Amino acid sequence: MPSLDAVRESNSSFSPAYRPTALFVGGTSGVGEATAKAFANAVKGRAHIILCGRNRSRAEHIIAGFPQTPESKYEFIQCDVSLIKNVSKAAEEVKSRIDAKLNYLVTSQGLMTLKGYDPTSEGIDYKLSLHFYSRWRASFADELMPCLEKAAAEGEEARFMSILHPATGAPLDTDDLGLKQKFTLPRAAGQSVTYNDLFVEEYAKLHPNISFIHAFPGFTRTAIGRNLPWYTLPIKPVVHLLSRSQDDSGQYLCFALVNPTYKSGGFLVDENGEQQSPKANLASDEGRQALMKHYAAVVRIA
Ligand SMILES: NC(=O)c1ccc[n+]([C@@H]2O[C@H](COP(=O)([O-])OP(=O)(O)OC[C@H]3O[C@@H](n4cnc5c(N)ncnc54)[C@H](OP(=O)(O)O)[C@@H]3O)[C@@H](O)[C@H]2O)c1
Repeated sequence: MPSLDAVRESNSSFSPAYRPTALFVGGTSGVGEATAKAFANAVKGRAHIILCGRNRSRAEHIIAGFPQTPESKYEFIQCDVSLIKNVSKAAEEVKSRIDAKLNYLVTSQGLMTLKGYDPTSEGIDYKLSLHFYSRWRASFADELMPCLEKAAAEGEEARFMSILHPATGAPLDTDDLGLKQKFTLPRAAGQSVTYNDLFVEEYAKLHPNISFIHAFPGFTRTAIGRNLPWYTLPIKPVVHLLSRSQDDSGQYLCFALVNPTYKSGGFLVDENGEQQSPKANLASDEGRQALMKHYAAVVRIA
């Protein structure tokens, strides 16, 4: 496992020949904010960085802390990405602000909740929408894939990262894709990470010049527990003891994001930025195709 010092040193030696463009959906808090900050510092402010989320004042505060150079360009796009139609609009806005090329697309929108099935007006569970559908739709990935492709075609980096919990999912349940029949929180967690694992592999086959990374941030002290009920408070000190700081997490995630090893292909990456093996027997070939079709149908209908 690389030490934090080695990771910091590696990040600070990152020096692309061009000014990279990066979008951080979920960059207004927690591990997304930390990755954006580590990235801005790694490139010493020579970047076009867009943060996307709902909280404009947080974004402005974060951007004010980024290093400033004549080549720095920092922006915020406000969007509630739980609705797929909003994601499409935000992706259009991103396209209007960049020069047709996107080098890094990092998605970490998410929440921790004890609420059960909670459909949005588009009929998708809120948590699943944040942790899967919006990431790959917006992943902005589908909407912005041509911009990543363009960067790759010009010999530049083109990478997509979904920050969640790779290689920890349950086998794909092809009988209940989207969990409309039986929704429980453990099933939602187990299936959404599997969906991300499988999409990383499937999208890497479809777009061989682009890197797709599903990364674990490690247990990190962020504001993610802000809406948990009062009776969870006693576990807070334990979580604090066992977790890493947001900044440390951001360093490791940035290390994975720019690591030359992950230039193209599909990768599952652990909290130290190291590659993990996929879990065996998550899905058959037919299961993978069923998931891709399910996703396409859901985002099209939404
Ligand atoms: N922290 C950990 O230990 C840990 C461990 C493993 C995995 N993860 C995963 O990492 C992801 C991020 O966690 P975190 O700890 O960084 O949480 P966080 O500090 O609460 O950050 C969540 C981010 O998601 C954005 N977001 C939430 N709902 C949104 C919505 N409807 N529309 C647009 N943006 C939305 C928030 O932006 P706005 O508030 O501006 O909307 C914020 O930027 C989650 O999926 C979590 O499951 C975290």
